[in-house]
Amino acid sequence: MEAKASRWAIPSDAEVESRVDEIMGRMSLSDKLGQFTQVGAADWVPGPKADEVIRRGGAGSVLWLNDTKEINRLQRIAVEESPAGVPLLFALDVIHGYRTIFPVPLAMASSWDPEVAERAQAVAAREARASGLHWTFGPMIDIARDARWGRIVEGAGEDPCLGAAMAAAQVRGFQGPELGAPDRVVACAKHFAGYGASEGGRDYDPVYLPEGLLRNVYFPPFEAAVKAGVGTFMSAYMDLNDVPASGNRFLLRDVLRGEWGFGGFVVSDAFAVGSLVTQGFARDGRDAAYRALRAGLDVDMASNTFGEHLGGLVEDGLLEVEEIDAAVRPILAVKVRMGLFEQPYVDEALLAQVVALPEHRAEARRAAQRSMVLLRNQGGLLPLTKSLKHVAVLGPVADSMEATEGSWMVFGHVPAAVTVLEGIRAKLPGARVEFAPGPRIWRDIPSWMDSLGMEAKMPPQAAEEAESAFRAAVDAARRAEVVVIVLGETADMSGEAASRASLDLPGRQEELLKAVAALGKPVVLVLVNGRPLSINWAAENIPAILEAWEPGSEGGHAVADVLFGDVNPGGKLPVTVPRKGSHTPLYYARNLTHSPEGSFTYNPRYWDGLPVPLYPFGFGLSYTTFELASLRVASPRVNVGGSLEVTVDVTNSGAVEGDEVVQLYIHQRSGSDSRPKRELKGFRRVTLRPGETRRVSFTLGPAELGYWSTSAGRWVQDAAEFDLWAGVDSTAALHAELEVVR
Ligand code: NOJ
Repeated sequence: MEAKASRWAIPSDAEVESRVDEIMGRMSLSDKLGQFTQVGAADWVPGPKADEVIRRGGAGSVLWLNDTKEINRLQRIAVEESPAGVPLLFALDVIHGYRTIFPVPLAMASSWDPEVAERAQAVAAREARASGLHWTFGPMIDIARDARWGRIVEGAGEDPCLGAAMAAAQVRGFQGPELGAPDRVVACAKHFAGYGASEGGRDYDPVYLPEGLLRNVYFPPFEAAVKAGVGTFMSAYMDLNDVPASGNRFLLRDVLRGEWGFGGFVVSDAFAVGSLVTQGFARDGRDAAYRALRAGLDVDMASNTFGEHLGGLVEDGLLEVEEIDAAVRPILAVKVRMGLFEQPYVDEALLAQVVALPEHRAEARRAAQRSMVLLRNQGGLLPLTKSLKHVAVLGPVADSMEATEGSWMVFGHVPAAVTVLEGIRAKLPGARVEFAPGPRIWRDIPSWMDSLGMEAKMPPQAAEEAESAFRAAVDAARRAEVVVIVLGETADMSGEAASRASLDLPGRQEELLKAVAALGKPVVLVLVNGRPLSINWAAENIPAILEAWEPGSEGGHAVADVLFGDVNPGGKLPVTVPRKGSHTPLYYARNLTHSPEGSFTYNPRYWDGLPVPLYPFGFGLSYTTFELASLRVASPRVNVGGSLEVTVDVTNSGAVEGDEVVQLYIHQRSGSDSRPKRELKGFRRVTLRPGETRRVSFTLGPAELGYWSTSAGRWVQDAAEFDLWAGVDSTAALHAELEVVR
């Protein structure tokens, strides 16, 4: 089936520029200033209502509207009734799918396959565009090294190399080959920058990051997004080194435009321009508007601070007309590229056709299959046989569509996922599949987002009800041949405003797991969750553990595909899994200390439990085995500025076809600064038949061997000795050496 798609030839750069000149020629100053306001079209947004603002030309874009008819209605007001008739951009958070929901971004990063993310976001873009949206607030590409931070679910985890690859892939997926491509949307790299390093993992709290860490770790995904042609950026909420990101000239002008040459525009996070006052940075709204615009922020999301104050600031000569003109150009350019002046409206019948495309569901299933990480498989319990007659499926998230689709539901979206229970039932049509959820789980403190209908929660349960649910689950397990227990988190337990201090399984889940394990049946634990969880007891006592994350619309099918061996799992952790919430931030790429690792002064870093990972970054098992050999460096020495090839052979040494992710890590032994004990510099996911060997090659050059030095205050590449390791996780052991010489 072919959905009717819009056809549009993107104009050349020169054509875009001349169209923008022509459009600006018929805009008054106030029309231009209107482009800097993004109006929130939801009832709960304070301030003047969307219709009224749009009618007077006071808005350039709209957010929090997910209704095609309403989009066309507001667009008609902009085009036909506003003074300059400039069409609006409609924006929304389409983070991991629009109607067809893909695995959450942390899961997609677990595929270590950027193509998964690119294809997913292409589907998301196509559906979103068919609904009338033009612009998504994604990808979220904040590095997160603290699993307590709820928004770790929205990104690609802890590592800049993996993070940059996933960022670029998502931009390509959303935007297509070129900004303005039909059936695609404009992407927005967010949240610039450092949001993932909020103190204590507490959402919105201040961030202190030295420039070296910013440039070496937190910036690379953003720079990769710029290189991939991302159309827009979103500034973060929090203070970065005491300067709010939305008023931060270093970020928005010096680095983003000055160094990276970004030519698009920057939108604030929601209400963030107004919040410059709340944050104790700006004196009042006028000061906030002035300082945000001067810092390089172009569009005020929903706070109406620009709307109220920019006109006065120009009138009083504090802002120049030229700078207003310069800032409005990129916004108009996006609208020209997207063909909005030619086709401002969307065909209201299109979405239904696009959503029905079977390949969208197929992509979601494939993405979920490739995202899953097998954490344990003692005695080869998995894959399970399809000849089972009686299976118990347990756990509060085993049949939760909300948890399966996960965090960051598109505004107004109704979950429609295949749950793990349904997936298993579909896989075993002849068997008895008994379901018992056990006690429910819920947050101790609800989210403020509940009222907006963006994250789904489970209603709390009385103690007696929970107790009888507990007993029913154990009874169901007692009757079955095999138990699949699905534990983790509900959708509202990760995401925005969803940080937590502990990384344990919430509620009575571990207690249930122990009671079920005590029955002595084969037990498979499937995790459905939005952050790494400290499943210490399970890791020692449950033979098979599959990290499914929040796997999306087709998640239950994909879990069953893996459990019953139709798919061999090949995902790898994009994050270190800590043993306790209090061990965070915990990540593999940390610096060495003065006391040698393993020496008597080294341990314990804490005396009440070793802060070593439960599972290392990059880890994941398969139903087959792999061996790596012959790590070879093209030459033992390379000149500063030169590049060389590193190769390694990977062999499938087991009995079935499978995927391995070959990973290359480096360590610089000495230099201008101390460098991390290991840094990922390349990775490749390969599929191998039993007995097959593949040579994988990586390039190490100045980009991989250089870094931003705190001592030098600039980018350097030192003449130094390096260790290289190739392997299948961040504890890779196959070693080689390399010397960089001048
Ligand atoms: C706040 C969030 O921080 C941001 O990620 C999102 O894009 C905006 N709200 C708009 O919904």
